[in-house]
Amino acid sequence: MNVIAITNMKGGVTKTTTATSLAKGLVDKGYKVLIVDADPQANCTDIVAKIGNELNEKFLKEFDDECIKNEQDFLVKLNDSLYKGYDIETNLRDVFKYPKEIKKFIKKSDVENLDYIPSALSLAETKIKVMLKLDEDNKHILNEAFSYIQDDYDYVIVDNAPDDSIILTNVINVSDLIIVPIKADKGSLKGFIVTMNKIMKLQQDALRMNASVDFDMKILMTMVNNNKNDNTVFEIFKKYFGNNVLNTKIRYRAKPANESSMNNNYLIDSKLNLGYELKKLVDEVEEYFK
Ligand SMILES: Nc1ncnc2c1ncn2[C@@H]1O[C@H](COP(=O)(O)OP(=O)(O)OP(=O)(O)O)[C@@H](O)[C@H]1O
Ligand SMILES: [Mg+2]
Repeated sequence: MNVIAITNMKGGVTKTTTATSLAKGLVDKGYKVLIVDADPQANCTDIVAKIGNELNEKFLKEFDDECIKNEQDFLVKLNDSLYKGYDIETNLRDVFKYPKEIKKFIKKSDVENLDYIPSALSLAETKIKVMLKLDEDNKHILNEAFSYIQDDYDYVIVDNAPDDSIILTNVINVSDLIIVPIKADKGSLKGFIVTMNKIMKLQQDALRMNASVDFDMKILMTMVNNNKNDNTVFEIFKKYFGNNVLNTKIRYRAKPANESSMNNNYLIDSKLNLGYELKKLVDEVEEYFK
């Protein structure tokens, strides 16, 4: 079972898109995949569990025709539609509480061979609760949990929140490969530095404890615009990080990205160029583990 974490402590750099695309792409190649949503925003859960109405023209029209009396009415209706189909009672928080019982908290998606562990806002609370009794053991709860599903999946993909937490520490410690998506803007590069510091610190911790350091890190250049600035950033990263930069570059393409996020679709299934690029990413990741 190969565990891949997608992380960058900056928001909006395509972590969730990368996680869901890798998961769906690997399933399409015949692998059994578990996707774990470790972000309380639960964007990944929305896509995999198909939560919320499609925000398409038909929906918007119904919304418009509805007799909405005031702002309160509007908010209630908006909430009902965004949470349509939401009946999730357990989430990753429960895995942290009862790691031995991880199998109980795994759900089947409507895609065959794609299972998931959902997230919810309550996961943020876990962060605090777990942190309150911080000791060395808290950093390896997911190692324990994943040992019980070792033979059930070919890949586990973990989507992360754009911040530091004991959850992220656990995720990095259980990962074989960490993919850090970056785009050529200041915020994303700042997030990259913080993320690298975190990864290096955990590597040093492991070395100090004589534990094996068996995770690798790869940078994914994403939302790349075809201009001099972005190409130069990419070249500089290639120069200093060499083999740690994935060959696949994902270009900035707003149209398919918007369509898929409005409709809860997997972006990798887009017939447009972006879908093709994401499939190339899946090929490269598959090749990495061969
Ligand atoms: N190649 C692309 N070109 C343009 N837009 C994209 C591309 N890939 C993803 N997007 C869009 O960018 C937005 C942010 O992507 P995503 O949600 O995957 O980022 P994230 O890093 O998970 O964000 P967060 O930190 O908030 O969890 C989404 O609306 C997504 O549809
Ligand atoms: Mg996300």
